[in-house]
Amino acid sequence: MKYTSGRKLAHCDVQDQLGQSVCDALGSSNSIYVHCDVTNEEHVKNAVDIAVATYGKLDIMFCVFLSMKHAARVMVPARAGSIISTASISSNVGGAASHAYCCAKHAVAGLTKNLAVELGQFGIRVNCLSPYAIVTPLTTSFGGVEGEALENVMNQLSNLKGVTLRTDDVSKAALFLVSDEAKYISGQNLFIDGGFSVVNPSFNMFKYPEDL
Ligand SMILES: NC(=O)c1ccc[n+]([C@@H]2O[C@H](COP(=O)([O-])OP(=O)(O)OC[C@H]3O[C@@H](n4cnc5c(N)ncnc54)[C@H](O)[C@@H]3O)[C@@H](O)[C@H]2O)c1
Repeated sequence: MKYTSGRKLAHCDVQDQLGQSVCDALGSSNSIYVHCDVTNEEHVKNAVDIAVATYGKLDIMFCVFLSMKHAARVMVPARAGSIISTASISSNVGGAASHAYCCAKHAVAGLTKNLAVELGQFGIRVNCLSPYAIVTPLTTSFGGVEGEALENVMNQLSNLKGVTLRTDDVSKAALFLVSDEAKYISGQNLFIDGGFSVVNPSFNMFKYPEDL
């Protein structure tokens, strides 16, 4: 996806070469790479401080728990900001992933609501995204199926047919949530799942007696 919003990016990861290559593609006037292990609070604090020192403020944080905390630290005095994190369909339905993953994603959805309440008084919006399955290194690490073969499996299980969910669909949803078009949206878990999490597939298994 072309980065056309005019925003400046402080991109954080632990894969330094890959992370730097994102910034190289965007250009050094638009982006900086910061090595940051998001499980290490000092790293997260440092990354937020570098972003503010470089660009003067932090408008948007795309993140997890500690990143929310340190984003709030600089957004509260500014009385503005937008925080987004990635949950999953496992924030709503059971059986799609492990117990730990399902617990973690329910936690992201709950934290999103609580933080939206706490930070609303400061003009800060907090939302999360819940995508259906997408081919990424994360999903290809399960079960040895990858690329188009994995997409085909996911498309067989999906509710919405004829389209395939891709990573840029998540980016577009994120760009919407941080835009002025979403200026009154906060505390929401936006499902990018083609209706997967609202359908009960058992209904499709019903057969009228004459069809048995
Ligand atoms: N891929 C899917 O089907 C899917 C579906 C729903 C939700 N999600 C969620 O989306 C998010 C991203 O998933 P993905 O599929 O892109 O995963 P991925 O493994 O492909 O990419 C994760 C990225 O995070 C980086 N990372 C990992 N640990 C880190 C750490 N401690 N500190 C900093 N960076 C770290 C990795 O280097 C990598 O660049 C996850 O929260 C995942 O649960 C993914």
